[in-house]
Amino acid sequence: MQHIVQLLFAVTVASLALATSTPKIHGTSTKNDKVVLILGGGVSGIIAARTLAEKNITNFLIVEARGELGGRMRSMEFGAEGKRATIELGANWIQGTQEGDGPANPILTLAREHGVKTEESDFYGSVVTYDETGKTDYLDVLNNAVDAYTNLTVVGGGRVPTKQVDATCRTGYSLIGVKPKTPAEMVTEYYVDWEYAQTPEQTSWIASSWANNFTFDPDQGGFADDNLLSIDQRGFKHLIQAEAETFLKPEQVLLNATVRTIGHSGDGVIVTLANGTRISADYAISTFSLGVLQNDDVVFEPVLPMWKQEAIESMTMATYTKIFLQFEEKFWFDTQFALYADKERGRYPVWQGLDLEGFIPGSGIIFATVVGDYSERIEALSDAQVQSEVLDVLHTMFPNTTIPAPTAFFFPRWFSDPLYRGSYSNWPASFVSPHHTNLRANVGKRLWFSGEAMSQKYFGFLHGAYFEGMDAGGRVANCVLSGGGCKSLPHVESVPNSSPYII
Ligand SMILES: Cc1cc2nc3c(=O)[nH]c(=O)nc-3n(C[C@H](O)[C@H](O)[C@H](O)COP(=O)(O)OP(=O)(O)OC[C@H]3O[C@@H](n4cnc5c(N)ncnc54)[C@H](O)[C@@H]3O)c2cc1C
Ligand SMILES: *[C@@H]1O[C@H](CO)[C@@H](O)[C@H](O)[C@H]1NC(C)=O
Ligand SMILES: *[C@@H]1O[C@H](CO)[C@@H](O)[C@H](O)[C@H]1NC(C)=O
Ligand SMILES: *[C@@H]1O[C@H](CO)[C@@H](O)[C@H](O)[C@H]1NC(C)=O
Ligand SMILES: *[C@@H]1O[C@H](CO)[C@@H](O)[C@H](O)[C@H]1NC(C)=O
Ligand SMILES: *[C@@H]1O[C@H](CO)[C@@H](O)[C@H](O)[C@H]1NC(C)=O
Ligand SMILES: *[C@@H]1O[C@H](CO)[C@@H](O)[C@H](O)[C@H]1NC(C)=O
Repeated sequence: MQHIVQLLFAVTVASLALATSTPKIHGTSTKNDKVVLILGGGVSGIIAARTLAEKNITNFLIVEARGELGGRMRSMEFGAEGKRATIELGANWIQGTQEGDGPANPILTLAREHGVKTEESDFYGSVVTYDETGKTDYLDVLNNAVDAYTNLTVVGGGRVPTKQVDATCRTGYSLIGVKPKTPAEMVTEYYVDWEYAQTPEQTSWIASSWANNFTFDPDQGGFADDNLLSIDQRGFKHLIQAEAETFLKPEQVLLNATVRTIGHSGDGVIVTLANGTRISADYAISTFSLGVLQNDDVVFEPVLPMWKQEAIESMTMATYTKIFLQFEEKFWFDTQFALYADKERGRYPVWQGLDLEGFIPGSGIIFATVVGDYSERIEALSDAQVQSEVLDVLHTMFPNTTIPAPTAFFFPRWFSDPLYRGSYSNWPASFVSPHHTNLRANVGKRLWFSGEAMSQKYFGFLHGAYFEGMDAGGRVANCVLSGGGCKSLPHVESVPNSSPYII
């Protein structure tokens, strides 16, 4: 990446805006600065760029607000002087890997190609349990919660008459007779569905069931029921930055460039940056997060059609927050995970230790995760307030241990960040299939959409971002190579009341 970063200093807007007077050949624009603008340099943007490059369309530009590529694959050096380690603020797991020689998660393939160091996450075999009295064994309750979740996805797949319309996971649980009440029942339920980063009340029963199946259940078209945690000290992002290095030329990336407006018409697109620079292109692929689209951080001119706006505002951007602490010495559990059952569901419930053989031994790092509304709550507090709450929970978990002040403390505020506005998308029960069709659809022939949220099967995941980048890149390549004679994605002008889901 280094050479790209340095050379970019040399890419001035004057050179970007050079009017080309070359005759029209495939992949060369006659009137616009670029053939394709790829808005956002995360997994979707980079894979869309690779897809164009594979078709010899090279006159594209990735426009990225931050000073590096990777998007929500984002790492940081953390810890006291002399005891620093790389931690992952965003994506950390390859979720659903590969079973035998079945289909591989493309993120696993990239990790293998670029030698990213990972360790198996053993969610159910390497976990200990705590409650408000300290260490308490309720692994039997956890086993029950795992069974309950499997039952939920099976019924969500259609064993009850309600399969025609969606409902929330809470409705589903209740219908199968699972009604958690105790702190242990609540935290173990949380542990099997926290990756949706919202509560069962906020999550679609059907969509979460298929999302689970398509990633984790090889019998249902998924990859594998395994998770690899990146512990690579170059950062998990290395896999996508190294992939970018294999094909991307310095003049194809513009970093530190925040998009403010996207003008679109039948002739192409004109993107205006925060500093006033305008760049035109025949096509644009927006890969901005659902949260960015929802919050008008980027303004479309003219405004997007109502069917598109309704789709954007109807899906949910959820938040997943890791709260990192470093201590002089490890005083906690020797397992990978620990659960803490509080009377309040979602109050600092899941803990992960990194100071562990195979992970980052000697690091003194432990982190807690909160999601959804609880994430939004803590983002509104000061760091000191959150640190004090988290230490209270540690005192509750370890009543007989004198816990010293942490040597480092940090948590990212994804929900407040105008480049993300949350962590990843979640599918609510009120969001029906035609909404999602509309979320993915292009607007006119010039403006296309990609990113994690556009994936019907893998929304939320890195592999969702990857597949959507390939798809959008391929579709726009067809537009370029056919001189505009490409097919639009379908959209529904007016979404009717819910009808059966068709995948
Ligand atoms: C805390 C957290 C944990 C996660 N854990 C996992 C996990 O373990 N496994 C997994 O598979 N997935 C995980 N995910 C989800 C995964 O990170 C995302 O699905 C994926 O990275 C999204 O890629 P993308 O290309 O769609 O979007 P992004 O990565 O968001 O790319 C869009 C890019 O657009 C840029 N941008 C935004 N606004 C502007 C603007 N106005 N102008 C210019 N540029 C702009 C952003 O900086 C960003 O680089 C996690 C995400 C988070 C936040
Ligand atoms: C791209 O260009 C190279 C070199 O000119 C050529 O070998 C290759 O076949 C082209 N690929 C496509 C998909 O057109
Ligand atoms: C982007 O901005 C950061 C912070 O201002 C700076 O350190 C970096 O060199 C810039 N990168 C490019 C490519 O301009
Ligand atoms: C899951 O379903 C099976 C089969 O119907 C049933 O025996 C079991 O009790 C259910 N488990 C839970 C936790 O609901
Ligand atoms: C999910 O997989 C289960 C089998 O484990 C299956 O019974 C169910 O129909 C699937 N659900 C969906 C929504 O695909
Ligand atoms: C605006 O920002 C872009 C991207 O960082 C940069 O290339 C360009 O020189 C800036 N233009 C002005 C006028 O500052
Ligand atoms: C803490 O110490 C008390 C008194 O020595 C003891 O009864 C209790 O079991 C200890 N608790 C834990 C969690 O070790």
